[in-house]
Amino acid sequence: MRSDLFFVLLSGFLSVQEMANGAEENAALWGTSSQSSNYVDLYSTYAIDGDPTTRSETATETNPWWRVDLLNVYRVNRVAITNRASYYFFRIDGSVLRVGNFLDMYSNPICAAISTIPSGVTANFSCGGMEGRYVYIHIPGNQKILALCEVGVYGYLLDNLAIGGTVKQSSTYFSWFAGQAIDGNRGFNTQANTACSSTNIESSPWWSVDLNHVYQVNTVVISNIICCPERIIGAEIRIGNSLENDGNNNPICAVIPSIPAGNSSKFSCGGMEGRYVNLIIPGNMKQLTLCEVEVYGEGPLYKKIFVKMQFNSKADLTNPIMTDNILKQLESVLANRGYSNVTISWSQTPKQVPKVETAKAPCRKFN
Ligand SMILES: *[C@@H]1O[C@H](CO)[C@@H](O)[C@H](O)[C@H]1NC(C)=O
Ligand SMILES: *[C@@H]1O[C@H](CO)[C@@H](O)[C@H](O)[C@H]1NC(C)=O
Repeated sequence: MRSDLFFVLLSGFLSVQEMANGAEENAALWGTSSQSSNYVDLYSTYAIDGDPTTRSETATETNPWWRVDLLNVYRVNRVAITNRASYYFFRIDGSVLRVGNFLDMYSNPICAAISTIPSGVTANFSCGGMEGRYVYIHIPGNQKILALCEVGVYGYLLDNLAIGGTVKQSSTYFSWFAGQAIDGNRGFNTQANTACSSTNIESSPWWSVDLNHVYQVNTVVISNIICCPERIIGAEIRIGNSLENDGNNNPICAVIPSIPAGNSSKFSCGGMEGRYVNLIIPGNMKQLTLCEVEVYGEGPLYKKIFVKMQFNSKADLTNPIMTDNILKQLESVLANRGYSNVTISWSQTPKQVPKVETAKAPCRKFN
């Protein structure tokens, strides 16, 4: 029997991981609203102020509408509408809910036709992951009034590559776990210790996310904590494929000058290629606190893996026909397991290695 040692090179596209089901955030709270007209001072923003006791209201008109611009494209799972607790609750009857990417209202697909919502009730309308930047509510017809106590839009930022990634940080301050920086919740309106990540105060603290595949990263969005926004000053955003020094030696996309308290800043990385995105604050007595890290880009790019295998083969693996056959067999095994878009090639021709009879080798004594 021959024993041949050889190397193969696997490369190909692997499927993008489904987005993880983390906590949902109310995207409307970060949006900007408008409506077709204002009844006195009942402005559109009262429907996205997080307070269901205040309301927006249009004047009496034909086809009144209200809109929130989420500023980013979301995958919208549901919209929660709180109707007024009033004798006039029926005014919402016959309204239409639309989600889409068009500023022109009627170009957006309908998520729900609302027959009625009882007085003072919050009703969920499931939009099944419809994609959109705009959410519209309108009432077709004449002599209509659109009043909304609160509109919550729940879903996920589309293509936030960080969601579903694997996170690490240099240390964890109490329950401020690393994963809370990629939970889909920017964390300003909730308890920071369950919505943000934080290290202890230490020397050069860092946080990292493994995107699982290599991407071209266009932008990184960092959300800063309300209490102590100065902590983030000087943090470096690093992107690359190296795990040397836990990824903290990868090239720098940006050094954060500052981010306002309870706000998000966008950093442009111009398509830097990488699987790991790190934040590190160089220096002593630093604490790295992150309410959300969002990563946007393109990919995944080709993923190349080297696999070293040892074969016991009766056939001559230096014969090209045999080596081609082995690649075909490997490809069909991978295809059976769902990896159909993988191409395999030999990185070098198989080499025969001498057999070592370890079992029969005498023990050697070292002094
Ligand atoms: C709306 O959906 C959310 C999330 O599934 C749930 O927690 C809430 O109770 C629902 N509200 C109503 C009124 O069904
Ligand atoms: C957050 O940033 C937005 C956009 O730059 C700005 O309009 C808003 O005033 C900022 N809020 C705070 C609290 O700094």
